[in-house]
Amino acid sequence: MLRRLHNEQPDNFTFTEMNQKWAEGQLTKYPEGRQASAVIPLLWRAQEQEGWISKPALETVADMLDMAYIRVLEVATFYFMFQLQPVGSVAHIQVCGTTSCMICGAEDLISVCREKISETAHVISEDGKFSWEEVECLGACANAPMAQIGKDYYEDLTVERFTKIIDEFAAGKIPTPGPQNGRFAAEPMGGLTALTKLKKDRPAHNGSVALAIGIGDTVKRIQGDEVPILTPWLDRGKAANSKKSVSQQTGAKSASHTKVAARMMTKKAVDVAVPLVGKKPRTMTAPRKRGADNLKLMSGIGPKLEDALNSLGIYHFDQISKWSDAEVEWVDKHLKLNGRLRRDNWMEQATKLVIGETATLPKKTFN
Ligand code: FES
Repeated sequence: MLRRLHNEQPDNFTFTEMNQKWAEGQLTKYPEGRQASAVIPLLWRAQEQEGWISKPALETVADMLDMAYIRVLEVATFYFMFQLQPVGSVAHIQVCGTTSCMICGAEDLISVCREKISETAHVISEDGKFSWEEVECLGACANAPMAQIGKDYYEDLTVERFTKIIDEFAAGKIPTPGPQNGRFAAEPMGGLTALTKLKKDRPAHNGSVALAIGIGDTVKRIQGDEVPILTPWLDRGKAANSKKSVSQQTGAKSASHTKVAARMMTKKAVDVAVPLVGKKPRTMTAPRKRGADNLKLMSGIGPKLEDALNSLGIYHFDQISKWSDAEVEWVDKHLKLNGRLRRDNWMEQATKLVIGETATLPKKTFN
């Protein structure tokens, strides 16, 4: 499948204020220098906001992550979850046309799309509400034929049911996703033949459908004030999310400016007030006469973190090696390390450096 940017592009793209905060919060999930890992979430959020990925959106994400545009383009063109052209205002429908679905009637579903939406894939319907395409296996083969509409799966489809689903969407309703023929999940059509007790207490919907109903964003455009992703990480991102956007603070436009701005943001993340958790360790007003230890010898500590530790009055390995659990907790929270301090075994590393066992230290992973 040929995937390229659309021939008509908007002049610019900006995240909504809340989506911008959300996106900046995503950056704090990754160690410094690894922010490119957020490329898929950020592109996805851009698509949740606009419905598709435009060139300016792609460039905005690249700038935020300090990535070359071509790298972000590679990601956006590789995954067909990303729409590279405008889509219907209500929903974009992806009909699986791979083996199981094809055998079970995918071609009939595609005929419905041709009839109700547009003759050709990726062409928006006359009323502007829908677009469609045929895609490769979506991994729900046991519930063939199926289609992904917006973000959810509609399975065990028939022509009649599929037609009705499109009509319901057009009327502003959100049909319940999941199996459309009464199956709970992917059990045999005649009912369970094993583990039959499970049937008694099972809820109305399988976990995936229940989650989709709970989130309620099947075809919603996300402005950022919703909570569309259920993840324990969200709470930890609150401090970052509450800050002003990088571009708002700096007016940053270019990649290099954005990089600087991102650094400022990370620094501010260290500076903002954090709840007092644990116990502040003993600190020093200045390093000893021989000078501060090179804390960067420890895996997980780079120049920025070393500066942050020094500014707290922590200069030497033996200081770190003596921290109690409560002190570890305090430093971790204060520097917003999200548990990295323990994961990287700072105490053990520092102890080994004190007694000169640098050869046994783990390979350094951060610069
Ligand atoms: S073949 Fe259609 S979901 Fe796998």
